[in-house]
Amino acid sequence: MNSTIRLEPSGKEVDCRSGDTVLAALERSGFVMPNNCRAGACGECKTLVTDGEIDQGIVLDMALSPDERDEGYGLMCMAKPVSPVVSIEFGTDDAKPRLFPPKERVSFAVTDILPRTPKIVEVRLRPLGENLRYWPGQYVMLGDERAGAPPRPYSIANAPRPDGEIHLLIARVEGGATSGWVHDELAVGARVTLAGPYGTFVGDPATDTPVLCLVSGSGLAPIMALTDAALRRGFTHPVTIVFSARGVDDEVDEGMFAFWTLKHRKFNAVITYTGDDAPEGAKRHGRIPTVLPDMFDDLSGHTVFIAGSPEFVDDCREAVNALGATPDRVHVEGYFAQSAAQVPPADRLTG
Ligand SMILES: Cc1cc2nc3c(=O)[nH]c(=O)nc-3n(C[C@H](O)[C@H](O)[C@H](O)COP(=O)(O)OP(=O)(O)OC[C@H]3O[C@@H](n4cnc5c(N)ncnc54)[C@H](O)[C@@H]3O)c2cc1C
Ligand code: FES
Repeated sequence: MNSTIRLEPSGKEVDCRSGDTVLAALERSGFVMPNNCRAGACGECKTLVTDGEIDQGIVLDMALSPDERDEGYGLMCMAKPVSPVVSIEFGTDDAKPRLFPPKERVSFAVTDILPRTPKIVEVRLRPLGENLRYWPGQYVMLGDERAGAPPRPYSIANAPRPDGEIHLLIARVEGGATSGWVHDELAVGARVTLAGPYGTFVGDPATDTPVLCLVSGSGLAPIMALTDAALRRGFTHPVTIVFSARGVDDEVDEGMFAFWTLKHRKFNAVITYTGDDAPEGAKRHGRIPTVLPDMFDDLSGHTVFIAGSPEFVDDCREAVNALGATPDRVHVEGYFAQSAAQVPPADRLTG
């Protein structure tokens, strides 16, 4: 029996084919719900069923307690509708994902610090307690007051993983307190305390348009997380990343770009070089606002993500607006200096 899944409070409806789980049906329609094991064992996809009947299948009590079942919760990775209509609590009034409330102190161990360019290191962190729950595109605050490094925002550069590992791409700022501490003092094996997740630079999983991402330097971090998540869930529209580099030394993540290009027919990464040491045979030269009109005639049908320094973001925004981009579908993350944590509005948070 085919069913309809109704999302509350938006009232949006999704078709669910016979035998499909609620999670699978949502993903097929472009809606994303947090999930991890997809086997009824972790509780990540726990959702309140407000109307209709589901067959919950076999799940672990530690993932869904008997009390939670009685209250109407279910695990959507295993739940199959058994009534014509099943209503579930999902997202905001316009079906945007609800974000996780930030936590103030979350302990992580530094498992690796990898030089990615002469200016950027990748810091890999593993949770010492529970995994930090976040949406791709969000950031954490990292620092150590005792070491003279005030907490600063750093975007998470990977989509959530079952082991909870997170990666940060941190650029050295000349004379910078916290980036200097990360580059010169932070070492593998250290314990660090993060706060987060923060920010609303999250891709709307229901995006149903081609996606264009414009980035420079460590602005690549949130774009990597968003792209990783979108491609993993089988996003079917074209995804283009345009990366601005002064020269070969600035290139980051060419390996992932190559992997995605081979794996996903509609993924395309373009590097445009703004300095003198571009590699031989480089196809694009010049700043993104200059090269964009050669690449796109009209951006009115695109969703655009821009991340990097505030000046870079402003210039790119002006360029995409000039090519007809729809303001509602242009999302930006400016790396403002000494920025405070931005807690998402209460009506976008879970529970
Ligand atoms: C939402 C958000 C996400 C961010 N994500 C990342 C990220 O993923 N990776 C990353 O490397 N950074 C990121 N940043 C920037 C980061 O938070 C810090 O601003 C940066 O690391 C500098 O901090 P600092 O303590 O080293 O320098 P500070 O001690 O704050 O500054 C030292 C001096 O440098 C100037 N300055 C600060 N930042 C810059 C800059 N970017 N360029 C030029 N001059 C600067 C200051 O005005 C000051 O004069 C993000 C910022 C925001 C707001
Ligand atoms: S994703 Fe783990 S219980 Fe559903």
